[in-house]
Amino acid sequence: MTEPTVLSELRDHILTLRLNRPDKRNALTQQMYSELAQALRAATDNPDVRVVLLAGTNDTFTAGNDLQDFLLGSGNLLEAPVGQFMHVLLNFPKPVVAAVNGAAVGIGTTLLLHCDLVYVGETARLQLPFVNLGLCPEFTASYVLPRIMGHVRAAELLMLGEAFSAQTALSLGLINEVLPNADVEARAWQQAVRLSQQAPQALRTTKMLMKRFHQQTLQQSFQVELEHFSLALAGEEVKEAVSAFMGKRKPNYK
Ligand code: COA
Repeated sequence: MTEPTVLSELRDHILTLRLNRPDKRNALTQQMYSELAQALRAATDNPDVRVVLLAGTNDTFTAGNDLQDFLLGSGNLLEAPVGQFMHVLLNFPKPVVAAVNGAAVGIGTTLLLHCDLVYVGETARLQLPFVNLGLCPEFTASYVLPRIMGHVRAAELLMLGEAFSAQTALSLGLINEVLPNADVEARAWQQAVRLSQQAPQALRTTKMLMKRFHQQTLQQSFQVELEHFSLALAGEEVKEAVSAFMGKRKPNYK
């Protein structure tokens, strides 16, 4: 039997969702987005779940969206599993903690914008290579990043799309703490336990209040970005960029 690509475990009121496709660096498929969305929806309604912990495997958080899937075309991304996953995480009412080691590429970085506490290993590499792939930002990155760090820093990350370190992510206000790789999961778990022992309703109210005044704007940003992302997916630039990546060569844009 093949191993599930998202492992789910509920213990001590903490639901751990672990990306588990290590041979492809946990690149996210439609199936994985579906499973994540379903697990988060069920967690919303399950009073036994007080906190969600998102993790990858030992040396990789996720290499982002599966690149082969980008070649399958666009369709309505809001309705697609990826859009469903984004929607449910964006509106998830309980605290979410992330434990990140290794690569956190594309949505591997942008999903962190929708977590509440983020712990990252010292050799992790984050990256937003949307333009490098002929695409545009997603999951509210074009709206949130300039507001966290200012336009020019966000432009550097989004327009040049180079990988950046955990230390840089910390200095830009994207994450809570940089740790030795081996300590990341233990720290994330420790913080998740602390959250799980807080008053559950007070936590939910606090999360709602923190997001309340910009939740509608986040929703709009997420939708408008996905419209542009769909258009880009139907274009020529992404085909050239992905085939260049697969062929280990430089892209040649017309
Ligand atoms: N989609 C599909 N497959 C992917 C993938 C992705 N996003 N990222 C990695 N893989 C696959 C590789 O094709 C390779 O498969 P193979 O062994 O069958 O050839 C395997 O995972 C290992 O990848 P590799 O590049 O050899 O690993 P690495 O440790 O040297 O580098 C990364 C890891 C994440 C830095 C690198 O794989 C990478 O840059 N991936 C693309 C990330 C990306 O652009 N994502 C989309 C963001 S919008």
